[in-house]
Order: sequence, then C-alpha cells, then structure tokens
Amino acid sequence: MNRPVRIAWHKRASAAAAREPAAWLEGGWQHSDAAPDVLRRILTATDPAEVEAIRMAAEKTLLEHCGDTVRLRGLIEFSNRCVLDCHYCGIRRGNRAVKRYSLTLDDVVACARWCADKGYGSLVLQSGERRDAAFVRRVEAMIRAIKEATRSEAQPDGLGITLCVGEQAPESYARWFAAGAHRYLLRIESSSPELFARLHPENQWFETRVACLKVLREIGYQVGTGVMIGLPGQTVDHLVDDLLFFRDLDVDMLGMGPYLPHAQAVLPGEIPGAQERLRLGLRMIAAARLLLRDVNIAATTALQALADDGREQGLRFGANVIMPQVTPPRVRAMYTLYDGKPCLDDTAEQCAVCLENRIASVGRKTAKNQWGDSVKFARR
Ligand code: 5AD
Repeated sequence: MNRPVRIAWHKRASAAAAREPAAWLEGGWQHSDAAPDVLRRILTATDPAEVEAIRMAAEKTLLEHCGDTVRLRGLIEFSNRCVLDCHYCGIRRGNRAVKRYSLTLDDVVACARWCADKGYGSLVLQSGERRDAAFVRRVEAMIRAIKEATRSEAQPDGLGITLCVGEQAPESYARWFAAGAHRYLLRIESSSPELFARLHPENQWFETRVACLKVLREIGYQVGTGVMIGLPGQTVDHLVDDLLFFRDLDVDMLGMGPYLPHAQAVLPGEIPGAQERLRLGLRMIAAARLLLRDVNIAATTALQALADDGREQGLRFGANVIMPQVTPPRVRAMYTLYDGKPCLDDTAEQCAVCLENRIASVGRKTAKNQWGDSVKFARR
C-alpha cells in the first residue's frame, strides 16, 4: 500500500521548480565535440525541473551577454505577391484563394514614421518573394524614403532597416545595402538539404540559400537565419544540426518558430501536437542562446499562435527581440503564412500597448530609439 504513495511523492519532488541553472550546461562545451550531446539533452528534456534549470541557464546567459533590454522592430508586411510555391506557406503562388496586395510607398513611409514616433528604433520590411527589376527598384525607393523620413535628433541615422524579402541577386542585395538597409533575415528553414527539398518545389535549392547567406555577409549586412520547428519528418537530430549550422555560419540573428499548418498549404505528414511544438520551440530558443550567447534571437509571432503568452515565454527562454505588427490592419489578414495568426484586427497602437505590458510582465524593458544590433555584430 505504501508503494504507490512513495512513487507519487517522488514524481512531485522531481517536478518541483529548479532553483539553479543546470550545472551540466556550464563550461566550454559550445565549440567542443560535446556540443551535439548537450544540445540533444536540452531539446529532449521533459522533466519540468530540468526544463526550468535549462530556462534559467538560458536567461542568465542572455542577461550576462546582452543585458535585459528587448529590442523592437516594427514589422511591415508590404506585399503578399510571391513567385515561389513553398509547400508550407499560406501565401505561396499556387494558393489562388489569397487576394494579393502591395502597399504604396506612402503607406510604407507612414508606417515607418509611426515606428519612429513610438521610439521603436528599427523596422523589418517583409514581403513575398519577387526578383523583377520593378520590385528591386521599389524596395530601394522604400529604404531611401524611410531613411529620409525618420532621421531625427533621437536617431540621426534614421530607423534601422532589416530586409526579409528572400533569395535575390547579389547586385540587388548590394543596392539595398547602399541605400541604407543593414540587416537581412533569410531563414534556411532546415539545414538538412534533404528535408529542405521536401519542403520546397524542385526549382528551390538549399545551396542557393546558403550562397545567399554568404553573399549577404560579404556585403556587410548583419545576417539572420532560422528554421521552422516541428515540421513533418523533422527529428531531434535535424534540430541539433540546425543549431550547429547557425554556429558554423556565425550568424548575428535568429528567427525561429513552430511550424503551423495552413489549410491551403500542401505539406503532408504527421507533426507533433501544438503543445509539444510550442515546448520544442522554447527549448530551441534556450539551446540557441546557450550555444551562441550574444546573438539577437526573436520571440516570433508563431509562438503566440500556439499560446497567448507564447512570445513572453520566448523571452523567458532567452529571446531578446520582438517584432510588433505595424502592417495596416486592412491588409493584415491577406498575409497569413499560417492559420491562427494572432493580432489580425488590432491596430498598431493596440499592439504597442499590449506588447509593452507583456514585456514588463516578464521583468524586461524595451530599448527606445536604438537600432539594437546584436552584441555579436558589435564585437566583429
Ligand atoms: N508555419 C510557420 N512558419 C511559417 N513560415 C512560412 N510558413 C509558415 C508556416 N506554415 C515562416 C518561414 C518563413 C517566414 C517568413 O515565415 O520560416 O521564412
């Protein structure tokens, strides 16, 4: 009769919150042969006390290397026109159910001015992928106009500009850099060429994306990449390899989030349940923070699609960047990469107030009127 009681007690004890960061995470494992095993242990941890010890270690590393400020980048999704057909994506070319839009230059500049007035310091220009000359010219014009419109006493060099517009010719990347963009996000989606091939049509190559990341670095951009987490066919070993890929590419920034199916996307296969994808997403953030230490890591909107406090949890697990929505609400629903995208109806003002509260709720503060480059980049 005693036995079950004792087992139950033992379970409760192991589930008690950890009070200290995990000792096995200390030391210089990041560049040693031990790295894959440590990362695997982080990603597979399920015992609540162990997960909490990992979280605490990641948070400690963040505070030591990057401080406690959360860097904001206003997110402008300026067009959903796209020439690609990525199997997972809601705005892929083959989805005829989507109404296509492009914001005007004036719309984009108005959003940028709003960000500057709010003290956001930086913005992200994101869109579907196009490579025609008119698109290249338009992005260049946007960058120049945003810089012109947002120079102020608080920010003499204008807002920081991050681009997220996909694979492009080196000349386009160079033109945009010369116009004033200084950070570029291009997710690798998966560092396994084989898994990458299953996610994309035949005309999209893993090698091209890696080549783009290298060109971006050579031009002088701060470079960010990332993956989706919980994809069909993705294993823990794939995720470990993703983390080592980030390390070896020496990235400045990371944006990763759970994979979220879209009704009009065409990626077959089983995926982990929503809660497991969320937890895996958080453990990936912690693993990346512990491995790379001084890079910027975003708490992505996809985390919030799985739990109302998903982004705050991301911050607690070691993220230090948030991208508040500033895309005009009238077009926002047309930029649904995945189902269940949050904040579709909120105005930029509502998003700003809501985020400030959310960030304060986890004991962090926001950096105002700063580009918020990663410490890693500042050290280069
Ligand atoms: N689930 C989660 N993330 C997605 N993205 C695109 N589609 C999805 C989806 N269904 C991510 C990709 C892309 C970024 C802009 O959005 O990683 O690089």
